[in-house]
Amino acid sequence: MMTPTPSAAQLAARMQHVAMSPTIKGTIAAEKLRREGVDVVDLGAGEPDFPTPSHICEAGHAAINAQRTKYTANMGTLDLRQAVAARYRTDYGVEYAPDEIVITAGGKQALYHAAIGLFGPGDDVITHAPGWPTIAEQIKLAGAKPVIVQTRAEQGFVPTAELLLGALTPNTRGIVINSPGNPTGALLSEADARLIAAEAARRGLWVVLDLCYERLIYGGVPHNLPGIFGEVLRDRLVLAGSSSKAYAMTGWRLGWAVGPKAFASGANALQSHTTSNASSISQYAAVAALNGPQQCVTDMLTVYQQRRDQVLEWLAEEPRFRCAVPQGAFYVFPDIGDFLSPGGLRTSLEFSDALLAEEHVVTTPGEAFDAPGFVRLSYATSLERLREGLTRLIRFARKHS
Ligand SMILES: Cc1ncc(COP(=O)(O)O)c(C=O)c1O
Repeated sequence: MMTPTPSAAQLAARMQHVAMSPTIKGTIAAEKLRREGVDVVDLGAGEPDFPTPSHICEAGHAAINAQRTKYTANMGTLDLRQAVAARYRTDYGVEYAPDEIVITAGGKQALYHAAIGLFGPGDDVITHAPGWPTIAEQIKLAGAKPVIVQTRAEQGFVPTAELLLGALTPNTRGIVINSPGNPTGALLSEADARLIAAEAARRGLWVVLDLCYERLIYGGVPHNLPGIFGEVLRDRLVLAGSSSKAYAMTGWRLGWAVGPKAFASGANALQSHTTSNASSISQYAAVAALNGPQQCVTDMLTVYQQRRDQVLEWLAEEPRFRCAVPQGAFYVFPDIGDFLSPGGLRTSLEFSDALLAEEHVVTTPGEAFDAPGFVRLSYATSLERLREGLTRLIRFARKHS
């Protein structure tokens, strides 16, 4: 007898609440067009277009050639945990011991350890939107309730202390902040970080900082969040970092969670029963990334900044795209509200779908980030493709207005 295929309702209760990212549909449609030979301009990418720098690749090759292809310590090699500690000491002046660091399969797993390890049923956890959807989904998977604060376009989507602290409830157990933010490129200011840190310390709250874009900040804006939060909240602070964006290593799946020893031990135990150690080869490559020359990071940042400035200039050719100036990461997030109407394109989701169908440009609709009425354009692609994409986008928007 055939076993019937289970419906979603037969899965565990937690699965009823976890949603696949709405970006996937667009990615599949774009892939289909590409296979048909269509010239698609992809402004959807959430990853650097640069190759992984050669000295990092060489370290990966050397690890394979030396047969460093076996399990490592579950929490990561000592060399890599020391390299993470050294990086944070150099960049922020903070001190962490290797047993306060767990090497993970990307920043995403570090954030998952934080969600599962710190939050549970009955807890409210404050975070901000427009935001990267995984943060709220992970909080839900932990059984806790995400309390999502809407940041304001006219304030550059900055997650301010006023907004975040204004969402405190008696059940608040933690605050998760992504800065620089995806999709907005907004930065939490150091002054606001101080206010949040002081209040969190007073109330005994956990603060989780998603620092995956920490090396991609323009104009040298001071952003020592580990130092500021660590000063008053070290025993309740978790940092989630990653080699993905800074070193163009998204496919290597390598990140880290940094926090007090009890948290790191818990995350280590959790990881020992799920994925075990992050890829040994990626760990050797990441040592080269963190300890090696940092000029590659600076060089990529310079190019991203040129692209950001250029994209903002091109976007301004059509003033109805209203766009805050992102301070970090590699996205712009314009308001496309002026091109939406009840009789035409009604939502940013419809806008993105029609833009792909008519002009073959991939964008990510604001709905993916809890921000309908906006679209995310990634500038992790060449200036030439950006010019082509922006030309098509403007032509499309004018046609539909
Ligand atoms: C805001 C944010 N945090 C964390 C991550 C995790 O990246 P990874 O798991 O590749 O380190 C991403 C990736 O897109 C992101 O956008």
